[in-house]
Amino acid sequence: MKVLITGASSGIGRSLVFEFCREEGNVVLGVGRNEESLKKIKSEFTGCFEYVKADLSDVKNVDYVVQAAKNLLGNVDVLINNAGFGIYKEVVNHSVEEVLNLTMVNFVTPIALIIKALPLMRSGSTVVNVITAGVHVLMSKLPIYGASKAALHYATEALRNELSKQGINVISVYPGYISTEFHTRAGVKEPQKGASPDEVAKAIIKALKKRKKRVYVPAYVNLARVFGPHLVKI
Ligand SMILES: NC(=O)c1ccc[n+]([C@@H]2O[C@H](COP(=O)([O-])OP(=O)(O)OC[C@H]3O[C@@H](n4cnc5c(N)ncnc54)[C@H](OP(=O)(O)O)[C@@H]3O)[C@@H](O)[C@H]2O)c1
Repeated sequence: MKVLITGASSGIGRSLVFEFCREEGNVVLGVGRNEESLKKIKSEFTGCFEYVKADLSDVKNVDYVVQAAKNLLGNVDVLINNAGFGIYKEVVNHSVEEVLNLTMVNFVTPIALIIKALPLMRSGSTVVNVITAGVHVLMSKLPIYGASKAALHYATEALRNELSKQGINVISVYPGYISTEFHTRAGVKEPQKGASPDEVAKAIIKALKKRKKRVYVPAYVNLARVFGPHLVKI
């Protein structure tokens, strides 16, 4: 399989690279800003992993990423929009620039990447959008992050219907609390212990093979979909 993964330099994205490169014949193009980390992954998976350094808070970089995918992969069997970040702040404490960056990385760029990469995707291929189970609850500590992911969730539902006509499957991934750098980067000093990023990566690979539409990791966070709007505030 030819795979394009954003946010490949750490957490869930890095675990995904490991999973794909474990299987012979897969070629992965990873996107991120942290070149040191991307270089390290490349040295571990020579022949399977290549990377392109790009800041996805600037939507103009999408063309550059798609061109790199065209050059290296030719076609894309799996596009995984995984890059994302949050900021633990109330709405009123955000700067306008933070709101713009969160919206760009978590919503605008993933959609732009799908639009621009679509000509490289054939029937039978898959788009995976990593969202958050938090879209089903009120994330009062991460409200703008939650809003940007809710936008991605909404667009992904529409996209699934649109792309099914071309034989492209669309998977929405809803992780719960996962132990990655996400939380310290978002401003939490002492993050809780959550599920592992490997668990999320494995669930995504399984969903790809079974052509599933929605994945919750851990599985119980699926309950947020039913009870979240009534009960939960995190
Ligand atoms: N951890 C959780 O509890 C949790 C829960 C629900 C959903 N998620 C979602 O899961 C996805 C992966 O996050 P993670 O938990 O694995 O966190 P992570 O370890 O912080 O990884 C985030 C990835 O996104 C990339 N990224 C962030 N901003 C970027 C930018 N401006 N340009 C390019 N790449 C950028 C980072 O790459 P560079 O640093 O190299 O730029 C990094 O590879 C995110 O979409 C996140 O919202 C996480």
